[in-house]
Amino acid sequence: MFSMARYRTKVWLYYTSTGLVGFGSLSKPKWPWPLPDGKPTKVSYIPQMAISSRFQGKPKGAKDSKFSRQIMRDLIAQASQHDTDMLCLHVHVDNENAIALYREFEFHEFRERDELGNMKMFRFMR
Ligand SMILES: CC(C)(COP(=O)(O)OP(=O)(O)OC[C@H]1O[C@@H](n2cnc3c(N)ncnc32)[C@H](O)[C@@H]1OP(=O)(O)O)[C@@H](O)C(=O)NCCC(=O)NCCS
Repeated sequence: MFSMARYRTKVWLYYTSTGLVGFGSLSKPKWPWPLPDGKPTKVSYIPQMAISSRFQGKPKGAKDSKFSRQIMRDLIAQASQHDTDMLCLHVHVDNENAIALYREFEFHEFRERDELGNMKMFRFMR
């Protein structure tokens, strides 16, 4: 709760009539994220998103209607209401379907990895 207050984090739970589909979260940290050229940048940050295992890859049919896409579109729409230059997140390098999802939404990868194998990804918001 302290961390949520500190980074102004909101969490959304997504349901269908058959249960909890997943959740998404979004923070508005006060720290600027320097770009490689050193320019200070206003960021929003996705601390975590997840789809319940029984809803992963669902619903079948049009890719755009998958729950993962619906939640990601919603988080990007929420972030676009912030005065923000970039939307960022961390993901483990082995998390292939998460990385594929983020790339589809125009997230780019930073080259550095932390000691746990996580990398940063970002997308421009304007
Ligand atoms: C990451 C997560 C949200 C993605 O949701 P999902 O419903 O499982 O993913 P989707 O079915 O939409 O798949 C996303 C894309 O990953 C790709 N993909 C799936 N499995 C893959 C694999 N083994 N290797 C490479 N790409 C893969 C596909 O391109 C797929 O897109 P498609 O619709 O064109 O097939 C979900 O798996 C999840 O909640 N995982 C656990 C929590 C987590 O890892 N959260 C992210 C933390 S940063």
